[in-house]
This record gives sequence, C-alpha cells and structure tokens, in this order.
Amino acid sequence: MYENTERKWWKEGIVYQIYPRSFQDTTGNGIGDLQGIIKRLDYIKSLGVDIIWLNPVYTSPNDDNGYDISNYRDIMGEFGTMEDMDELMSEMKKRDLRLVMDLVVNHSSDEHQWFVESRKSRDNPYRDYYHWWPAEKGTPPKRFSYFDIDSNAWKYDAPSDSYYLHYYSAKQPDLKWENPKVREEVYDLMKFWFDKGIDGFRMDVISTISKDTDYPELPEKYKGDFIPYYAEGPHLHEYLQEMNEKVLSKYDVMTVGEAPGVRKEQALDFVDEDRNELNMFFHFDLMGLDREPGETFKMRKEPWKLTEFKRIFTEWDEVFVKKGWGSLYLNNHDFPRSVSRWGSDSKAHWKHSATLLQTFLLSMRGTPYFLYGEEIGMTNIKFDRITDYQDINTLTRYESIKKSGGDLEAFIKNEKDAGRDNARTPMQWNTEPHSGFTVKKPWLKVNENYKEGINVATQESDKDSVLNYFRNMVQVRKDHLGLVYGTYRLLLKDNEKVYAYAREWQGEQFLVLLNFSTEPSSVSINEFSFEKARLIISNNQAENTQIGNNFELAPYQASIYKVF
Ligand code: GLC
Repeated sequence: MYENTERKWWKEGIVYQIYPRSFQDTTGNGIGDLQGIIKRLDYIKSLGVDIIWLNPVYTSPNDDNGYDISNYRDIMGEFGTMEDMDELMSEMKKRDLRLVMDLVVNHSSDEHQWFVESRKSRDNPYRDYYHWWPAEKGTPPKRFSYFDIDSNAWKYDAPSDSYYLHYYSAKQPDLKWENPKVREEVYDLMKFWFDKGIDGFRMDVISTISKDTDYPELPEKYKGDFIPYYAEGPHLHEYLQEMNEKVLSKYDVMTVGEAPGVRKEQALDFVDEDRNELNMFFHFDLMGLDREPGETFKMRKEPWKLTEFKRIFTEWDEVFVKKGWGSLYLNNHDFPRSVSRWGSDSKAHWKHSATLLQTFLLSMRGTPYFLYGEEIGMTNIKFDRITDYQDINTLTRYESIKKSGGDLEAFIKNEKDAGRDNARTPMQWNTEPHSGFTVKKPWLKVNENYKEGINVATQESDKDSVLNYFRNMVQVRKDHLGLVYGTYRLLLKDNEKVYAYAREWQGEQFLVLLNFSTEPSSVSINEFSFEKARLIISNNQAENTQIGNNFELAPYQASIYKVF
C-alpha cells in the first residue's frame, strides 16, 4: 500500500532547467545572460512550470561552462551582475516562480582564491582545502578523470612538488571535504544564497565528495569501474547529514543531488526523510541505457529496448513507494535531446514523439525536470565537424583518441548521438536570424530547424503545436493530483512497442498508453472495465480509437484515460 503522500511544493512542482549561456542574449555578445532570462519570465510562467533550475551563473573562467567556479558569491561577467541576479529573483517572486541554483562543490576552479593559495606551498593555510600527494611518495595510485586527455585525475604541480586530484579537468581541482574548514565554507556559501532567497540547490556530482584520503589502489570489486567507487566515499552520508543539520533544515528549500554511480539499493540512504539528507537525486540508469557498460559517453551498438526502459522506471518507482521521492528526467545539459534519443526527430514522427515524451514525464510519479527547449521539441544538432563543438568533454575525448591513433570518424559519429553540445544549442525563439537568441554570432551554432517550425513564435500561433500540447499536459497534471502522488502499476510488461501503466490515488484511476513505436499498435487492457472511461488528453485525438478494452494506437500516440 502506498503511504508516501505527504504533500510538498517540490513534489508537485514542475522544473524547467535553463542553461543560461544558451537561453537569451540581450547584450549582443552571442552569450545568453540574466537579463535575457528576465525578459523571458512571462513565457516560462505561461508554460505552467513552477521551478527554474539554473545551471551555474557564478564567476568562472569557463573551462567547463561555469562548472569551474572561482567565486561562489558573485556572478559571471558574461551573464551580468549581482544586481541582475537580484532583479531576476524579485521578478521571479512576483510571478510565483521558485529558483533552484547549481551547487558545484565537489571541486572549484583552479582560479579560486583557495586553490591559488593552496598550491603555493605545503604549509600554506589553504593547503588542506584540496587533495595533495607529495611527489617523494612516487606516482599516486590511478584515479580516473573525465576531462583529461590521459584520463588521469592526478596532476603534477611544480611549486610544491606534489600532485593534486581532479576528477574533472585539471582546472577543476577537487575540494577536500575531509577538512572541516572546507565544509564550513560550503555551508556558509549555501546560507549566503538561501538568505538571498533562493529555493534550493541541484548539487553537482554530490555523490563523489567523500574520498579515502589514503588514496588506495582501486579495490578489485569495482572491476576497473571508478564511478561506483567514487560514489561510495567513506564519509559521504555523514557530510550530507551535517549539511542538512547545519543548513538545509533551517530553510524551506528543495535539494536534488546529481548522483552518478549510485544504485537503487543505495537510494534511500540519500532520500529517506528520516535520515535528513536530500529530497531527491538524479540516478543515471536511463542515461546509461543506450551506452556501452561503464562508458557514460559511448553509444552501444544495439538499439535500446522499450522493455528495458520500462524496467528502469518501474524498478526505481518501487524504491520510493514508502519513503523518499523520485526525480524524472529524459535529458539535461549533459545528455542529448530527449526527442532525438527516446523518440524520433524524423519529419514523420517528431511531433508525436516529442509530445508522447512530455505525456510520459508528466504522468509519472516523481518530480519532472524539463530542459529548456524540450517544450518545443528541440532536437540534437549532430555536428559534422569537431570544430563546431565547444564542450570540453567532446574536445578532450577527441584529443585523446587522436593521441592514441584511434578512429576519429567513428568518434564524430558517436558524438552526433552522445555529445553534450546537442543539448546546449541556443534556444529557438522565432524565425529571425539566429532564432532570436542573439543578434550576433552565437557562442554555439543554432540548430537550423528553427526555420522549420521548431521555435516558440511559430508554435505559439498553432493551437495544435508541441508547445501548446506541453501546456495542456502540464494542466492535466495540475488538475489531477493522482498523477503526482498516485501509485504506479506497469501493464503489458513485455510489450516492446507500448508502454502502459495505471496510476491510482484516492479512488481515482488513470490509464496511460504510450505507443513508443513508428508503427501503429493495438493493445488490450483487461485490468479495467472501460464502460465509463473518459479520455482526458491525447496527442493525436483524430486517431484515438477505443473499442471496449481494445485500443488502436497510431505511431507515437499518447493517451490518458480516467477510469471510473
Ligand atoms: C556535472 C555537470 C556537468 C559537469 C560536471 C563537472 O556532471 O552536470 O556539466 O561537467 O558535473 O562539474
């Protein structure tokens, strides 16, 4: 029996993620900015979403687009000033929109004052803010790094004749959470933002903050896979509980941790309310579905299967039946566009698959997160040339393959489906040059399909557009709390084309039918009697056919019935 129905604003809220660099430029430098977001707040409000998650906007040398922070209490010059931030917050409050910021504290920038000091000498007061390995001990045991040509997370630093640890680029040294002073610094900066009035944090790679400071060889049981090892640091949960006690418990805020390497068996350790750690986290199981095992950014050869997709969502739902709460996402700034990946961006199927995916996320249990542009069905850009990419991840992996004499053509092909820049291209506002994102050259190319209907202005004027469907579907979720809190029951488990499930809450029942296929499909649902079923939404009304318990579904048709 489902017991987990304590109502919370962050359970009922719908999140809209903004990659500020790509949202709206107002200064003409080709880079989005805070004034641009302010300008678009009425649009965001009109979508019906409640919460904005803003990717990092703090001062940063931009080695990893803001995920390398050199001052946590100030705003990146390209994006604006603290006055702009204050204005954004007050304009959001006027519209009853909540703000979640990115908290990036597994690492800082190497240009942060703490690191500038730390690297100076072994007896600097900031030395112990980072992880150092003295060179006289020899080469440190292997640690894997994402954005390093040799995947080597230890970098030699001459001034103190030592190596420092960086799980990401060499310009992103890992902070040493084992030092209580570091933790106090983090809690202080969190309070600084909460006192300014933000409503929560999305916590960047929070699963990896705790490290074994003996830096042993990777234990055998991980079979060479560093990611789960990184997520099992010895003091992780102590730190999260301390953070909760000292900061989070004092505010009405939401937290969602990014948690690569965390398995569902460990999920409740993070989000069981009684443990007082986080509200939600993002797991990576779906993001790994079409990838080689243990290879976050390498496409596997066989196409993904719907039964596997269903299994992931169903198993994760089971975790949160009694405790905790889930988060739902199909893409973000690190993974390709949802419609290109889980639907189809072909002319024939783009519209229905984009709206099917919206229907899915908005009818599941958990808090749904949408990436800017997902509401209009933005697609992967699939660059042909390495010179079009800006992302440190793609560029480093390219250099690494080049260095080892690997297959660069295969890599470019892989990045068309896996590259992070697919999800970062500028927002498509209208049919003006550069899609209305900027008047000059955009920092990253705009997807040309803004001219073919994938833009806000064109879709505003079509009541049948992907955008307007999104708004309708948001309203359906808002009107039916059962779609938020209700139990979830998978139907037709083995069907490779249709994802069907029932949601039930306080005597209300819903049937969700999603044809994840380019072919028409017919299914029989025998669990319910449909004499009194009422269709509450469909992305293809014209094709909707129900005869008793039998349903004919057009390609990528999505329908939700209320069953009495
Ligand atoms: C997270 C972010 C990603 C970033 C990385 C390092 O995975 O989502 O964009 O590159 O952390 O900060």
